[in-house]
Amino acid sequence: MTALLTIHHLCKTFDNGTAALTDVELSVSAGQVTTLLGASGCGKSTLLKIVAGLLSKSAGQIDWADVPARGDIGFVFQEPTLLPWATVRDNVALPFTLFHHKSPDEAARVQNIIDLVGLAGFEGAYPRELSGGMKMRVSLARALVSKPKVLLMDEPFAALDEITRAKLNSDLLQICAQEKVTVLFVTHSVQEAVFLSDSIFVMRPRPGRVYQHFSLTHAGLRNEDYRLSAAFGEKVREISLSLKASMETTS
Ligand SMILES: Nc1ncnc2c1ncn2[C@@H]1O[C@H](COP(=O)(O)OP(=O)(O)O)[C@@H](O)[C@H]1O
Ligand SMILES: [Mg+2]
Repeated sequence: MTALLTIHHLCKTFDNGTAALTDVELSVSAGQVTTLLGASGCGKSTLLKIVAGLLSKSAGQIDWADVPARGDIGFVFQEPTLLPWATVRDNVALPFTLFHHKSPDEAARVQNIIDLVGLAGFEGAYPRELSGGMKMRVSLARALVSKPKVLLMDEPFAALDEITRAKLNSDLLQICAQEKVTVLFVTHSVQEAVFLSDSIFVMRPRPGRVYQHFSLTHAGLRNEDYRLSAAFGEKVREISLSLKASMETTS
């Protein structure tokens, strides 16, 4: 499996002295979903922001297989952060508008990604007219419209109800497979992590670091039956125990 991104000895100490990350080692394989799983305060958001280049690191190395260019990294936050005065179409097209990207394919690409995230027919709707799940679909479409190589997702579905979240989890897998995008996902839900991931890094807090790594294989289709399967339940149990142990370990 080719690593798109490898991180060595990554450390982050904020100006106020908070050690958010220490000696983090991880890698993200191309074409896979890699998840950072951990309780609040483990440094998950800090790590994602450093990878995105939104925050500087204090020490360590981040090695990309190819140096990312503008548009190669997409970011989806927990809040959909849509422009309230713009339609779905204009919100999705925002990266093109911002980068003054003028291509005849642009409108077709915007429509194509709106279709892919399941918002066909809502192109002219405003954010206030959409449910939480639909707003998140707009946010996802906007992050994908410029065809990023990697999509960074920071607890994107945490504010959604259970049923909407499960549906978005299933759809996300299909969307990412279709778009051939590598995903680095953050969650504190073990179920969500197990459902989505090829690789899970369980993190522990104070200071944030990797506690344990799991590689996952998924037999068959990942659908509602899979969520109820014994294999899924067993994996959730194993990783829940790791997460629990990560919180109890002191050093
Ligand atoms: N800008 C900041 N300044 C100081 N401390 C911060 C800042 N951002 C986050 N932290 C601290 O760093 C630690 C990790 O935070 P964060 O990355 O948000 O964790 P998580 O996303 O896993 O909940 C926490 O202790 C948090 O309070
Ligand atoms: Mg966070």
